[in-house]
Amino acid sequence: MLDRTAVDYDGLIPNNVGLSADPRLRRALESWHPSCLDWWRARGPEGFQENLVYLRTAVNVDPEGWAKFDYVKMPDYRWGILLAPAVEGRTISFGAHKGEPAWQDVPGEYRAMLRRLIVVQGDTEPASVEQQRHLGATAPSLYDLRNLFQINVEEARHLWAMVYLLQKYFGRDGREEAEDLLRRFSGDRDTPRLLGAFNEATPDWLALFMFTFFTDRDGKMQLHALAQSGFDPLSRTCRFMLLEEAHHMFVGQSGIARVIDRTCVAMRDAGIDDPYDIEPIRALGVIDLPTIQKRANLHFSLTLDLFGNEISTNAANAFNAGLKGRYLEDQIEDDHRLVNATYPVLRMRDGLIVPDQAPALAALNMRLRDDYVADASSAVERWWNRAIARNGIEFAIHLPHVAFNRHIGEFAAINADPEGGLLSAAEWQRRHDEFLPSAADNQFVAGLMRPVYEPGRFASWISPPPAGINGMPGNFEYVRLLG
Ligand SMILES: [Fe+2]
Ligand SMILES: [Fe+2]
Repeated sequence: MLDRTAVDYDGLIPNNVGLSADPRLRRALESWHPSCLDWWRARGPEGFQENLVYLRTAVNVDPEGWAKFDYVKMPDYRWGILLAPAVEGRTISFGAHKGEPAWQDVPGEYRAMLRRLIVVQGDTEPASVEQQRHLGATAPSLYDLRNLFQINVEEARHLWAMVYLLQKYFGRDGREEAEDLLRRFSGDRDTPRLLGAFNEATPDWLALFMFTFFTDRDGKMQLHALAQSGFDPLSRTCRFMLLEEAHHMFVGQSGIARVIDRTCVAMRDAGIDDPYDIEPIRALGVIDLPTIQKRANLHFSLTLDLFGNEISTNAANAFNAGLKGRYLEDQIEDDHRLVNATYPVLRMRDGLIVPDQAPALAALNMRLRDDYVADASSAVERWWNRAIARNGIEFAIHLPHVAFNRHIGEFAAINADPEGGLLSAAEWQRRHDEFLPSAADNQFVAGLMRPVYEPGRFASWISPPPAGINGMPGNFEYVRLLG
């Protein structure tokens, strides 16, 4: 019997989209493939390209057992084009076309809008690989090094996923957009990536864990919203990407939890109860909790900017068109058209942050951001504050107010402290280092970043994970550095 989730591994590009029967598309993708490999070698992980890494590769698209673990050299990773299985008789579940059959081809009237959504999503995927390329040099263990590379190869596969959609469905301009995805670079002065947070540096491993916790979680929200799309190929692509995304967030959640655990254990062993007794804590070779809080403030606020303006006609149009839904749209009980509905938003009025009601369609970015904040807060409690409480230290990580440190939207023009209290520009300057990492904080963290490449060993500032990848033992050689 034909396994409809099976992947064809015979060609250059593993896929379940029938590439061998579509020679034009295959040629387009095969001609893009060398550029992608060039990009990977020039802008992907620095070094380690010839080392064997214990990676998982998708071998089918069945939600259970879709991945196979083995040693692979990263440039040999099989970047496949994988769509979640089609849902028979699927209909559009929101917007003006609600109830109509899902589109198997690009709806002509929405072509430009759809292409833009795919390009923006596609641009973030290689960006994060570029941001993280230097981190192999300072990995706190082989386990962590392997997790970094797993994320990197999967982000590159997500790039492939978006390039497939562009090349298959958008003709010549799709092919040009696919080339441009390899021409912009994170942080580049002339040709930066499209979104702000993807042009920031990821200077150290604390930043990596924060990025995968906060910014990959934005990715999860965006993918969920696109997984609802009436354009079925986009929906199916995003549904499969979400399987991989879960691991990226796991790396951030568990990574920071391990940093926190190590700090708390070291404090207890040294008889230090006060988490603000920073110098003696740092002298133990661990990262003090207030610095972790400040890093969380930074990454959370940068990530909120990715949701765009609170009130947005683009978001309303994409929803109306049936291209981008809400988080878990299919589980919401309302009319899924939102024509007369309202949604509560925070706005600036006469220099004050006040609650207001906005048309629900225009406030869709706000709603997705609210869903994100709820998801992130519960993960902070479950993973981080539980680790602190378990160790009996009196401290809790709090996510700052949504008005804090913003550069896009309603609060871009004001200064607010983490509780949402308004500050004058002078006051913000004076207290900046209280809220956000100071140069000295960053220097301290940078000083801890020395590689530990011996199997089973970990840097002073992070605890070992409770379990290995794919059930491997504690001293497993996740990356083979010799031979
Ligand atoms: Fe991704
Ligand atoms: Fe990701």
